[in-house]
Amino acid sequence: MKKIIKNGTLITATDTLKADILVEGEVICDVGQDITISDAEVIDATGMLVMPGGVDPHVHLELPMFGTVSSDDHYTGHRAAAFGGTTTCIDFISQDHATLAEDVAAWHDKADAKAAIDFSFHMNITRFDEQIAAELPTLPGNGISSIKVFTAYNNRLRLDDGGIFKVMRIAREAGLLTMVHAENGDVIDILVNEALAAGRTKPIDHALTRPAWGAVEAVLRASSLAASAMAPLYIVHMNVAGEVDQLEYARQHGIQVMGETCPQYLFFTDDQLGQTDGAKWVCSPPLRKNEDNVRLWQGIQNGTIQVIGTDHCPFFYNGSKSILFEGQAVAIPGKELGRGDFTKIPNGLPGIEDRLPVMWTHGVRTGRITPNQFVALNCTNPAKIFGLHPRKGTLTKGADADIAIWDPDKKVDYGVAVAHMRTDYNLYEGWKLTGMPVTVLLRGKVIVENGSWLGRRGEGKFIYRSTHNPIL
Ligand code: URP
Ligand code: ZN
Ligand code: ZN
Repeated sequence: MKKIIKNGTLITATDTLKADILVEGEVICDVGQDITISDAEVIDATGMLVMPGGVDPHVHLELPMFGTVSSDDHYTGHRAAAFGGTTTCIDFISQDHATLAEDVAAWHDKADAKAAIDFSFHMNITRFDEQIAAELPTLPGNGISSIKVFTAYNNRLRLDDGGIFKVMRIAREAGLLTMVHAENGDVIDILVNEALAAGRTKPIDHALTRPAWGAVEAVLRASSLAASAMAPLYIVHMNVAGEVDQLEYARQHGIQVMGETCPQYLFFTDDQLGQTDGAKWVCSPPLRKNEDNVRLWQGIQNGTIQVIGTDHCPFFYNGSKSILFEGQAVAIPGKELGRGDFTKIPNGLPGIEDRLPVMWTHGVRTGRITPNQFVALNCTNPAKIFGLHPRKGTLTKGADADIAIWDPDKKVDYGVAVAHMRTDYNLYEGWKLTGMPVTVLLRGKVIVENGSWLGRRGEGKFIYRSTHNPIL
C-alpha cells in the first residue's frame, strides 16, 4: 500500500522545505514536489511540519532496581514514546548472567513480544574480566554497537579506571562506542555513609551526597581514558556546567567525545528535591542548579552536546496506591520504598513521551534552538552516533518511513492525565505545551492518529546497528 504525505513542511537536521513524501510499504521511496499517484492513500499535512520520528537513545524499560522495576515495560513505554513522536529507542541491558550472550537473550525475552516501536540495546559492562574481554567483540554480531560503563555505584556497577581503559581499547577495535556515566563513586560512598550516620535521610540528601565536581572530573577522566585508548566516547545524561566545559576542552584537543543531556537537566534544579514530594525528582546524576541548566543550553546551542535523550526510568511516586491505567488498576512499588532513607528511593524519572513536546515548546518556540537543531538533537544525531542512520532519523529516500506529523500550534495542558507513561506523576504537570505530534508512522504504518493508538505489541522490530559510527 502506498501513502503520500502531502502539503507538509519537511523539517530535517539541515533543511526546511515544502515537499511530499511517498511511502511504499515500510520505506520512504520518494521525496519531492506534488507527488501524485492514483492508488495511494493521501495523508494531508497542510499546515503541519513533517519530521523524522524521534530516536531516544537512553531509556530503561522494566529495569530491576531496589527490589522493584521501572514501571514502563517494552509495550507501555514504547506506546508512550510513540504518543510523544518517538519511533525508535535504545534500552540498556543489565549484566546479570555469566555471559553477555545470556544477558542479551534475557533482554530479548523481555522486549521482543512487547515492542511497539523499533528498538535496540546498549550493553552495560559492570563486571569485567578476561572472559568478558573475549566476549565483548561479539556484541556487534548481535546488533549491539555501544556499551555503557560507570564511574559510580561502587561494588555494584562501577569499573575501576583500568577496567574502563581496557574496555575502551577493546571497544575501539570492535567498533563499539563506549558510553560513560560520569560521577565520582568513592566520594559519593563516603558522603552517603556520613549522611546516613548523621540522620540526613531526605530526598535532598541524595543530591547533596553526589557533588557536581565529581561529575566534572569524571568527564575529564573518561575523556583522558578515551584519549589514551584512542577510542570514541559518549557522555550520558550530562547535568553540570563544568561537564560542558570539560567536554569542550576535550573536543578542542581532538578527543573523540560526544555528549548527551536530558530535558530534566535543562528545566529543573535540586530545589525540586527539597519539596515535600522530593522523592519524585530523585535520579542519578541528580538535578543541579540554575547555572547548570543555562550552561547545558549553551552546550546544545554551540554543538558541544549532540543529543537529547530522556534517561526514561519511571517509578510510581506512591506505588502502594493503584492508578487506573488503560482501564486496569495498576500499582508498582516505587519511590515510597525510600521513605525515611533516600538511598532506597529508586533512581530515575519518567520522560520518554515528554521529550519532543517539551523541547519544542521550550526549545524551539523560545528561540533557543531552531526546528532543524531540534531534529538533529532528537532524531538524526542519535541515529548517526548509534549506527541507525540512514535507516532511522532522516526523511530521505530509502529510510524507514518513521515519521512524526507535527502540529506546531497544537496546545495541550500537559500532565499525568494526558500522558501515556505508566506512572502516577509527570515532571511537567500543569505545563502549557504548544506543538505536538498528531500522526505518527512506524515503518509506513500509522500507529498514532489524533490521540488514538493504532499500534500493536510485537510490531516493533529489533534493529541491528552498525559499528564504527561517525563522531559528530
Ligand atoms: O537515575 C537514573 N538515571 N536511573 C537510570 C540509571 C542511569 O544511570 O542512567
Ligand atoms: Zn547512568
Ligand atoms: Zn540511564
